Amino acid sequence: MCGIVAYIGPREAYPILIKGLHRLEYRGYDSAGVALLNGKLHLYKTHGKVSELEKLVADKDISGNIGIAHTRWATHGEPNDINAHPHYSPSKKLAIIHNGIIENYATLKSELINRGYTFESNTDTEVLIHLIEDIQVNEKVNLFEAVQIALNQVIGAYAIVIISQDYPDMLIAAKKGSPLVIGVGEGEFLVASDATPIIDYTKNVVYLEEEEIAILTRNGELKIKTIKNKDKTPYVHKLEMQLSTLEKSGYDHFMLKEIYEQPRSIRDSMRGRLNAQKGIVSLGGIIDYEMKLINAKRIIIVACGTSWHAGLVGEYLFEELTRIPVEVEYASEFRYRNPIIYEDDVVIAISQSGETADTLAAIKLAKSKGATIIGICNVVGSSIARESHAGSYTHAGPEIGVASTKAFTAQITILTLMALSIGSKKGTISTSKFYQYINEIDSIPEKVEKTLKLSKQIEILAKEFKDVRNFLYLGRGYNFPVALEGALKLKEISYIHAEGYPAAEMKHGPIALIDKEMPVVIIATNKGSYEKVISNIEEVKARKGKIIAIVTEGDVAVKNLADYIIEIPETIEMLVPLLATIPLQLLSYYIAVMRGCDVDMPRNLAKSVTVE
Ligand code: M6R
Repeated sequence: MCGIVAYIGPREAYPILIKGLHRLEYRGYDSAGVALLNGKLHLYKTHGKVSELEKLVADKDISGNIGIAHTRWATHGEPNDINAHPHYSPSKKLAIIHNGIIENYATLKSELINRGYTFESNTDTEVLIHLIEDIQVNEKVNLFEAVQIALNQVIGAYAIVIISQDYPDMLIAAKKGSPLVIGVGEGEFLVASDATPIIDYTKNVVYLEEEEIAILTRNGELKIKTIKNKDKTPYVHKLEMQLSTLEKSGYDHFMLKEIYEQPRSIRDSMRGRLNAQKGIVSLGGIIDYEMKLINAKRIIIVACGTSWHAGLVGEYLFEELTRIPVEVEYASEFRYRNPIIYEDDVVIAISQSGETADTLAAIKLAKSKGATIIGICNVVGSSIARESHAGSYTHAGPEIGVASTKAFTAQITILTLMALSIGSKKGTISTSKFYQYINEIDSIPEKVEKTLKLSKQIEILAKEFKDVRNFLYLGRGYNFPVALEGALKLKEISYIHAEGYPAAEMKHGPIALIDKEMPVVIIATNKGSYEKVISNIEEVKARKGKIIAIVTEGDVAVKNLADYIIEIPETIEMLVPLLATIPLQLLSYYIAVMRGCDVDMPRNLAKSVTVE
């Protein structure tokens, strides 16, 4: 939520900031702004995307080699010019950019109003910068001390950067609950919400920790202290990200590129972890905690959105392969439910970004009760990865499209490897089955490649259905989460209302919706419950619903019943989600494009949900 980028050094700041904002735009795109210092503080901001900001500043003074910039996903106040960041302090000598939520902003604001301050915006952020300046003036302290005192009064989450006309050689950045990365270049610093704006300039980064404040000076000095004034030594990490992964590489959209990357991303998730020839599955990142998983009385999976759907697939996998009971929880519900957590519980947190506020809070809660936390994240060095006792990165590469695609299949790949590894060590899978499964998962990238060849057929199908108002997605067993994910993908990028259901649940309510206008996507590859899926199709047909069936190549029975069929390669039931998801991603993509929707930046959404 919200993208932050800042620069201090010898170069012109604006081009660096604007390029950085474009990279961060996936995090929020309802308004954008920049503040630059060249003796005087210039601040420009507007509602709309970063391109609107570029138009706005076309005839303005954008010189200066220190600056801060922001792309917003509104939390407080509607997305308009005034609520856009940066925000000035009352004297207009300070400006701030912020990602997060100041929960006690209303109390702070009324105290400030009582002292005579007025506010232009409805944001919590403007309250914070007013508070900082108030402290600076009334307590006669320097800017750093004022920030420190203010942050001790703040409840909530923040990643902030502050620029000051009185301190032209310094930026101040601080973090709690929202991510902030500092790029350490040759005599220059960048600060950003993630590493994507930094990678062009340096691979050396420092991840700011909770309640840390950094002072970045033009002479190349980086000082970090906590809000309680404890000195911290910056630890410099090396980025492994490749620049090419941040470009569209000839595709019309990041989402399409990321769908097509899946043969590679699934292979990368398995790299160094699966050796099918030698019969080895080993996840280095969890080795020290494997016994915890083997002896776990229960696994709790916490996640949100698409990652939660991957968690549901994980439930089926772990229960089948390890015989450990699994509960899959929406992180947002789990954290506020006073859940029962035992010390021998293993909590698996799944998150592409590794920054989702609810998931992070859920694992902090579980950790405080003594549970073991295993993280499955895509973003290296992210908060959830760091908060976990152990974990496995998905290695899917940066996912820029707001709709998650390759991260989902990478998460399922990791869950499959994890369940196979634990199951084989626990003795809950026979050796012959183990070999069958690992050989099959080894062949999945080629099968995904083959599935992607359905693209043309799906584009034609999309034309047929682009104008419908509702869609139903059905699946049983491993295909139930696939149905949920198919429906989520469609609704978030095409704005068509779509629901996913376990196929057998249809008769308990949703069947009332079925008529000749209702397309029903049914994933009908199940071996165990094939006949039952056919009955579900018959139920839809009897009410004149249109069936789009995902079937296994060579299928006959469903083919005879369905209005449209999509044939995917044969695989074992537990791996079908890795294939069946692909046509559903493509269907959503093409429908959204044909409806003229902004596929990579769907309305109201943001890639990384760092607020509750
Ligand atoms: O970064 P995370 O995986 O924790 O994000 C969770 C959800 O916000 C995310 O999956 C969301 O549902 C996507 N827009 C789905 O495409």
